[in-house]
Amino acid sequence: MKMLNRPRRLRRNKLIRDLVAEVKLDPGKMIQPYFISEKGTNRMEIGSMPGIYRDPEDKFVESFKADFDLGIDKIMLFGVVTSKDSRASRVDDKDNPVNSVSRQLKEQYGDEVFVAADICLCEYTDSGHCGLIKDNKIDNDATLDRLADMALASVKSGADCLGPSDMMDGRIGHIRAKLEEHGYKDSIIMAYTAKYASSYYGPFRDAAASAPKFGDRKSYQMDYRNQREAIRELEFDIAEGADIVMVKPALAYLDIISLFKENSPVPVAAYNVSGEYTMAKLMAREGMAVEKDLVLENLSAIFRAGADMALTYHLRDILKNGWLNG
Ligand code: PBG
Ligand code: ZN
Repeated sequence: MKMLNRPRRLRRNKLIRDLVAEVKLDPGKMIQPYFISEKGTNRMEIGSMPGIYRDPEDKFVESFKADFDLGIDKIMLFGVVTSKDSRASRVDDKDNPVNSVSRQLKEQYGDEVFVAADICLCEYTDSGHCGLIKDNKIDNDATLDRLADMALASVKSGADCLGPSDMMDGRIGHIRAKLEEHGYKDSIIMAYTAKYASSYYGPFRDAAASAPKFGDRKSYQMDYRNQREAIRELEFDIAEGADIVMVKPALAYLDIISLFKENSPVPVAAYNVSGEYTMAKLMAREGMAVEKDLVLENLSAIFRAGADMALTYHLRDILKNGWLNG
């Protein structure tokens, strides 16, 4: 048979496949999330996220050393606190678990570790909602002040980057104004720009004890039936001073990542979320997939779609097991 085009020529062996591959995974483009609990609590594996822990504030820096030695130097911190109330009092407490750990990390590592802090109220409100509640509704504008208070306390504690994940209208501009007003000109805002109301956050809410006590998050997080709306959020976040824009979740939203790649003037991050992590872990545990192959396929898809960086709970496994070493 005569054929001019035989795409299989370029798939013949590993050397050729590597030569023509469009994506090369780089751990330097990945951020590892951590959950930080109150001082004195026990280090605890999260039931729904095998291999991921809640680390107490007073022990984290010590346990992080092993991860740093593996090559993890970009991290995102989430707080798990015991005292929650209606105004999320502890979000701007300089001694809350996240701020305490940011300070300790900066003392020990300085610019050798890039510290991002999640900015949202849901881990600190008694309602479990990302905004303050008034008359059984989310009070968007009152929430903005608390988010800005939280952001300021975070950068004062040393955070290099803020990740507002609340999806209130106007938050990026409000936070940016507060930072400028106080002279924090270099703080990076990685906006959760297209954050969809997703079932893939289930294991995270277990990890952070942040499930809403009533209702759901559909009045603030985006509707997964919509794409156009993501462009609108992108325009607002850029105009309001975001440095990096994020799409979240990642795997069911590769179209949104591509759309951002085409349309965003700033770098695009993708959040490979808890449910995506746990699905991979469970398939591997049940012998339905080889974990390494599944994880590398998922992350390659995220980068192929156009992400410049990814937040992923898999980073430690990737480095520990040497999955990218050939
Ligand atoms: C808090 C927040 C959530 C995630 C990141 N920040 C949960 C939510 O919105 O319910 C999800 C991360 C994950 O699932 O890994 N607003
Ligand atoms: Zn939230």
